[in-house]
Amino acid sequence: MKPIKIGLLGLGTVGTGVVRIVEGHSEDLERQTGSSIIVEKVLVQDVSKLRAVPIDPDKMTDQPDDIIRNPEIDVVVEVMGGVEQTKGYILEALEQGKHVVTANKDLMALHGPEILAKAAEKGCDVFYEASVAGGIPIIRTLIEGFSSDRITKIMGIVNGTTNYILSKMSQEGAAYADVLKEAQGLGYAESDPTSDVEGLDAARKMTILSTLGFHSEVALADVKVRGISKVSKEDIQYGKKLGYEVKLLGIAERSDDLISVSVEPTMVKTSHPLASVNGVFNAVYVYGEAVGETMFYGPGAGEMPTATSIVADLVAVVRNMNLGVNGQRGSAPYRVKKLAAAEQ
Ligand code: NDP
Ligand code: HSE
Repeated sequence: MKPIKIGLLGLGTVGTGVVRIVEGHSEDLERQTGSSIIVEKVLVQDVSKLRAVPIDPDKMTDQPDDIIRNPEIDVVVEVMGGVEQTKGYILEALEQGKHVVTANKDLMALHGPEILAKAAEKGCDVFYEASVAGGIPIIRTLIEGFSSDRITKIMGIVNGTTNYILSKMSQEGAAYADVLKEAQGLGYAESDPTSDVEGLDAARKMTILSTLGFHSEVALADVKVRGISKVSKEDIQYGKKLGYEVKLLGIAERSDDLISVSVEPTMVKTSHPLASVNGVFNAVYVYGEAVGETMFYGPGAGEMPTATSIVADLVAVVRNMNLGVNGQRGSAPYRVKKLAAAEQ
């Protein structure tokens, strides 16, 4: 099989992990896909910056066209973040017949249907497992694992930064601002951490999960959102005395033709499994009418867990390429009906 060449948009926390896995696991990846995978070009803002992984300087560029209009490149891996400019790059890459893997929940929550429609038109794959819950394969699970069931509830901790902050405030009495800085230093937070602490990042992820789980086009604007910036150490200690932990919970429920989705700090009984999800870990509880209760747990952010999901998507794309079935499964799961949002 011919080598598959990827163009990486971004070489920050997540992009670095992608390079480490693609290069470090190259033999395993080739065994699984039948093709060698090569990082051909890397787009960054500042080509002169020292990088955490060694990259041939000839591969570095600050010109997006070197990737999105480069005929040598088969797959674009987008790990730069942002919405409008990034959407333009992805739509152009699809127009050029390239497959796309992205970790960008902001983009998929706002423009997922348009991007997936373009992918379907061009017979390309778009995979976005890393956009929700870092290293937990929850998107694949909702699309494939529960395809036979009718899901009525999805609930969980889907933001690593805020769970890290709340856990440290609860367990160590740490100060909010100090722990937020730590989470930023560890590469968990968004470039503007307001979206983490004000619940927007979790709302975007719940928009994606409820759209997929309920086969309905859930709009971000319909999600009721409250973050953790006003949760005090005293609130947390008071909750603990009463037998509760404070968690930023996303809750999506469906009954008949109504859907409600919310993200807010919630008192969780210490006996509930979600109360003991600590640090950067995430957990997603899914209730299906046939299967009953299920729960998925793992690291929700950070370099290597997130890169694991991205490279798993890359493996799926390359397998599809080699089978000649791109755009036929996995990438276009939305066969959706617009349901009314429940009154909040
Ligand atoms: P970083 O800020 O660490 O890295 C962003 C990278 O993109 C940098 O290399 C930067 O270049 C490059 N970049 C940014 N804007 C542009 C631009 N306009 N043109 C060219 N290059 C650009 O971000 P992360 O790696 O943390 O996150 C990347 C994406 O992954 C985001 O969408 C994020 O939401 C998502 N994500 C992140 C997770 C995490 O744990 N960090 C987990 C799951 C998803 P330069 O280095 O030169 O500045
Ligand atoms: N900032 C996000 C979080 C990254 O903390 O969960 C993972 O999506």
